[in-house]
Amino acid sequence: MIRFNNVSKSYPTSTAPALEGLTFHIGRGEFVFLTGHSGAGKSTILKLMHAEEPPTSGDVRVSGFAIGKLRRDEVPRLRRRLGIVFQDFRLLEDRTAAENIAFALEVTGARSDTIPTRVARVLDQVGLSSKLDAFPRELSGGEQQRVAIARALVNDPPVLLADEPTGNLDERATQGVFQLLRDINDTGTVVLMATHDLDLVRQAGKRILELRDGRLVFDSAGDQVEAR
Ligand SMILES: Nc1ncnc2c1ncn2[C@@H]1O[C@H](COP(=O)(O)OP(=O)(O)OP(=O)(O)O)[C@@H](O)[C@H]1O
Ligand SMILES: [Mg+2]
Repeated sequence: MIRFNNVSKSYPTSTAPALEGLTFHIGRGEFVFLTGHSGAGKSTILKLMHAEEPPTSGDVRVSGFAIGKLRRDEVPRLRRRLGIVFQDFRLLEDRTAAENIAFALEVTGARSDTIPTRVARVLDQVGLSSKLDAFPRELSGGEQQRVAIARALVNDPPVLLADEPTGNLDERATQGVFQLLRDINDTGTVVLMATHDLDLVRQAGKRILELRDGRLVFDSAGDQVEAR
């Protein structure tokens, strides 16, 4: 599903590379945590995956797309096959929960007569059917993140990327969102979650990829990666 082969990334404005010589593979059905100190390169990995940034060298493959070689018109097709959620939710404040989700379908050209059913289905999946007409400001942080997750899921992506999705949530909401991500993974969706929350990572028993200064220093799936 996701394959990095000797991937490096340098941002034009910074001297030290953000990622160096990364090689790993994430297969069907996996739930993977991406951990590492602030600035280690977690968000950069996610940005490469959804083609927000190109790799400087090496090969990135996601759901059959070769990211470094994508034509401009292929980017929307890639993004339809990836759900993504962020720490700060990024909901449109002037739209209700249902409208936020519907918007994600509208921009991908879904048939308008199918939209209400699909929105209702994902809101039910995240346990927020009763809040479909609520605006983001009327929802708790945990609920806003659930709406953002519903929006990420509405195109049925095979891969869900989550960048610190519990970073703004308290312990209880964190557990709720994490359980939801596990449930989503149980339906077959690959989930890759970047997080600082080591307690969550330790209790979960899922695969862990740890970065240090842009290098992969640990992969709990077995292949110990040498720290250079
Ligand atoms: N747009 C950018 N331009 C220049 N340098 C950047 C840019 N984005 C990130 N960097 C640098 O790349 C490195 C990795 O950043 P990244 O955001 O991937 O880290 P992170 O592991 O997600 O950190 P955090 O836990 O704080 O979110 C850092 O040194 C950062 O300063
Ligand atoms: Mg980050």
